[in-house]
Amino acid sequence: MLVSAEEMLKKAKAGKYAVGQFNINNLEWTKSILLTAQECNSPVILGVSEGAGKYMCGYKTVVGMVNGMLEELNITVPVALHLDHGSYEGAKACIEAGFSSIMFDGSHYPIEENVAKTKELVAICKEKGMSIEAEVGSIGGEEDGVVGAGECADPKECKMIADLGVTMLAAGIGNIHGKYPENWAGLSFETLDAVQQLTGDMPLVLHGGTGIPEDMIKKAISLGVSKINVNTECQLSFAEATRKYIEAGKDLEGKGFDPRKLLAPGAEAIKATVKEKMELFGSVGKA
Ligand code: 13P
Repeated sequence: MLVSAEEMLKKAKAGKYAVGQFNINNLEWTKSILLTAQECNSPVILGVSEGAGKYMCGYKTVVGMVNGMLEELNITVPVALHLDHGSYEGAKACIEAGFSSIMFDGSHYPIEENVAKTKELVAICKEKGMSIEAEVGSIGGEEDGVVGAGECADPKECKMIADLGVTMLAAGIGNIHGKYPENWAGLSFETLDAVQQLTGDMPLVLHGGTGIPEDMIKKAISLGVSKINVNTECQLSFAEATRKYIEAGKDLEGKGFDPRKLLAPGAEAIKATVKEKMELFGSVGKA
């Protein structure tokens, strides 16, 4: 059964580790992530962007697929199904469809409007026992058509949103979706520290987990980050393994063209990436 992300994130914040949110794109992605979480005895959050939701034929299809896998694969670790960077309408649609967690990204609205909309969704999620993530200060780069300028959040605005009763809070701290440019200035630990000072026990979320050096990840966790989002890195691992398979001509040998064979190296590569991240984030054995 899907669970809210609240308990797993409270435990992570108290235990000084982070739970990974891995974005899903299809059946192979979902299966690889769930099997790895089970193998690592780690809690996990499956992230679904609005674009990926559309690609997978809508939120109800996603809920059906994930619930089916939890049962058929005997997944017993805590799993939350979470809308990533949701619009106000998208958030409502996922609540209806049976997600167990949503993110409402109101970072592009003026703070008053972000507060008003977040507040309304907090009330709905509370009633349904769902977790809700809010965002202050946009995350840089582009993800699935959502383009962020990449700014450092104002800690006072973070406190305003945290006080609305959200479960977890994403604050821009110089992080970027996708690959980091050569001249990236790194995470702003000064901002993160100031946000944590004001928001206390609130689990903080680090977006753009792909390509952040290990020492920065560890420092971010020590300063209150309890959820780290990874998307691009699984896509890169999948693409690389699939490319190798095809370039080696394996799809032309015997029944190598069978999608169950052709997609297998990519699925294995996703598993390896997820495991590596769970080890780095410290969530192994924390289910
Ligand atoms: P990356 O694609 O950079 O890993 O970011 C993922 C993310 O933050 C999803 O919200």
